[in-house]
Amino acid sequence: MKQIILLQVSGLKTHIITNGNSLPIVDNVSFVIKMGETVGLVGESGCGKSMTALSLIGLQKPAKIIGGKVIFNGTDLVSLDKKSIREYRGKKIAMIFQEPMTSLNPVMSCGKQILEAVKMQGELNGAHAKQRVIELLNLVKYPDPKMGYKSYPHELSGGMRQRVMIAMALAGKPDLLIADEPTTALDVTVQAEIVNLLKKIQQQLGMAILFITHDIGLIKQVSDKIMVMYAGQIIEEGPTEIILKSPLHPYTKALLACLPRIDEKMEILPSIPGNVPTPGNYPSGCRFHPRCSIAVEGCSVDEPEFVEVSDSRRVRCPYV
Ligand SMILES: Nc1ncnc2c1ncn2[C@@H]1O[C@H](COP(=O)(O)OP(=O)(O)O)[C@@H](O)[C@H]1O
Ligand SMILES: [Mg+2]
Repeated sequence: MKQIILLQVSGLKTHIITNGNSLPIVDNVSFVIKMGETVGLVGESGCGKSMTALSLIGLQKPAKIIGGKVIFNGTDLVSLDKKSIREYRGKKIAMIFQEPMTSLNPVMSCGKQILEAVKMQGELNGAHAKQRVIELLNLVKYPDPKMGYKSYPHELSGGMRQRVMIAMALAGKPDLLIADEPTTALDVTVQAEIVNLLKKIQQQLGMAILFITHDIGLIKQVSDKIMVMYAGQIIEEGPTEIILKSPLHPYTKALLACLPRIDEKMEILPSIPGNVPTPGNYPSGCRFHPRCSIAVEGCSVDEPEFVEVSDSRRVRCPYV
């Protein structure tokens, strides 16, 4: 099951086009997601993670895909028109976001919103559709599905709202769930609950998950494979355990060094010096070189290619 390729992204380039300027946001991104696999996409805020995710389902205005392919179950989604992509978005590929409140309708009960998502799939109506809503609320372990059905988003906690969003996303039995910082707005214990819930649901339904987060500490609990993104590019990729145990890229190392450690008392959490460069202002050569602790002269000149460390591992730095 795990060996069948579900999604193959190759050479994806997404630009934002404003006032005649074309700014690269996602630059030559390639990766594979296999059926039933969880892939983590991690990097600081502003690295292009959300834009990568949105590029997969064609929701990226004022951005435009200017190159590359997004092959999903054999179809190149980039080549589809707006109408055809709707057969995938919210159906075969569903997405959940950081702040459910912005995606939920404040004046409609949660049950009705899930019901709409169920009806949109075009398979169930009437009592059957309502029954399916209750099933979905059970699936996301909503404590009292009948109450949940009647509740309005503002009456719920952040964690419960995220459960409602996950129920909506699962209405179409997606093959791929894109979870873009799904727990970032939640406090730590609720974060863990939602992550565990996603893991359980995945085991039950067998879907693949693209789990996006700025928190490399969170990703180890969920993903089979990690892709690290910096300034619009993937700079390291490999199996989760190996990346966490022996990261190669100085950026990955820096992200891991910033994690709080249980064994040490830290008053102030370390952070990587400097900022993520904004699109259009990427440094020459390696985009990370101004913040890199091992940078040498050549790093500002040559843009590093991927070094294939093993079948499943690659890194965009020749000095590691
Ligand atoms: N609509 C937009 N107009 C201009 N710049 C944008 C827009 N959306 C995103 N960006 C820029 O693209 C970069 C990547 O954004 P994003 O994909 O949201 O990053 P991430 O999800 O990793 O935090 C950021 O520098 C952001 O400011
Ligand atoms: Mg984002």
